[in-house]
Amino acid sequence: MTMKSLILFACLTLLPIDHLLAATAPPLPKGYQNWKKSVRKVDDNKKSIFYGIHYIYADSKAMQGYRANNRFPEGSRIIIEHFNIKESQNGPVESSKNMVVLMQKDKRRITTGGWLYAGYTAQGKPSGLDPVKNCFECHQKDAAGRDYVFSGIADFK
Ligand code: HEC
Repeated sequence: MTMKSLILFACLTLLPIDHLLAATAPPLPKGYQNWKKSVRKVDDNKKSIFYGIHYIYADSKAMQGYRANNRFPEGSRIIIEHFNIKESQNGPVESSKNMVVLMQKDKRRITTGGWLYAGYTAQGKPSGLDPVKNCFECHQKDAAGRDYVFSGIADFK
């Protein structure tokens, strides 16, 4: 094969795969609620886009990654369940679930830093968010030095 046709071959085969992958969200992993669960995280700033209460779930590979200062092995999966917030006498408590998000370490996802990003409704159906525009741009901006993962081992005390 000449160099030119080799490059053409690489373009035709590799690029569309990445493009196709970016558009597909896998089903939510079953049993993630049995993974390691983070402390309760409350954001009661009404102006914040994270206004609400959330918990992070990490599978055993992801826990290895957190323990290694955010260097995550291939296959690591991290999920957030996000809830609406309700004021009560004892402070803010969670009400209905409103969103679930998944990051899964997948080296084929070149355009999103080697992670698959997917968003789901409270019922666990893919919400069709764009992994680059709706997810990666923010994670890249502020968590690039931490393997694109904001949270750390301290969240799993
Ligand atoms: C505007 C910025 C922003 C956008 C957009 C965003 N995230 Fe995040 N994400 C964060 C921050 C900040 C945290 C840390 C939350 C915490 O520490 O409790 C986070 C945490 C996460 C986590 C837990 C692992 C980690 O990084 O701590 C997952 C999984 C996640 N986001 C997935 C997604 C997905 C999927 C999308 C798109 C549908 C998305 N995020 C969009 C800022 C963002």
